[in-house]
Amino acid sequence: MKVDKQWDAKFYDRQHSFVWQFGAQLVEQLSPQTGERILDLGCGTGHLTNEIANLGAIAIGMDSSPTMIAQARESYPQLQFEIADARNLSFVGEFDAVFSNAVLHWITEPEAVVAGVWQSLKPGGRFVAEFGGRGNVAAIIAASYRAIQAAGYPISPADNPWYFPSISEYTTLLEARGFEVTFALLFDRPTPLEDGERGIQNWLEMFARFLDGISAEAKQEIFTAIERELRPQLYRDGTWYADYRRIRIISRKP
Ligand code: BEZ
Repeated sequence: MKVDKQWDAKFYDRQHSFVWQFGAQLVEQLSPQTGERILDLGCGTGHLTNEIANLGAIAIGMDSSPTMIAQARESYPQLQFEIADARNLSFVGEFDAVFSNAVLHWITEPEAVVAGVWQSLKPGGRFVAEFGGRGNVAAIIAASYRAIQAAGYPISPADNPWYFPSISEYTTLLEARGFEVTFALLFDRPTPLEDGERGIQNWLEMFARFLDGISAEAKQEIFTAIERELRPQLYRDGTWYADYRRIRIISRKP
């Protein structure tokens, strides 16, 4: 979920289905129970909201992107989807669980999200989340910065649009709000990208916001330099892999 650029929901669904396919494991850890009210925070095109509903819960999807929500409503007209900003949730004590997959790294005000999740949960409710953790896509970021600089564009660490916390950073934040953290894991999850040779370029086009504003011609040169640098490390047998590192957290509102 991102607040200030329209997502191409169809491109996302077509070329980046790994985002929600990997999320299926997290749904297992959520373990939705029949009749539970569960908020899918940053639901994107709604596939995991639908999986949660299929397990018997009353699942509500929310995302700040109108294009993602439009696609989710088209795919799953039987489910409820809302456009909302995760930094500004208005639910009060409504949910047995808040679930979030591959979203929270987009929000650089994590305190606001944690406060909203807390407010949304019933006492005893759980918060189950996975997103990019400390060191996520480190090789892709480093190669991108080098290529952008070499092409003559200024870029600095401040242009990094993502929040990739360590376990101690994120659990401290949760505990400061009152959550009991019951599970925390930081793990490497090299992620195969779709579309063969074009995989890394598709990923950069979709997600690398620091390339916005660079001309198509210069971007092509930058992509070529990034691919040259990353190929030995992230390309195997016709497939590009993103060097994802996930943080998975389960916590409970007492
Ligand atoms: C991730 O899922 O880790 C991710 C996705 C897009 C940009 C950065 C990280």
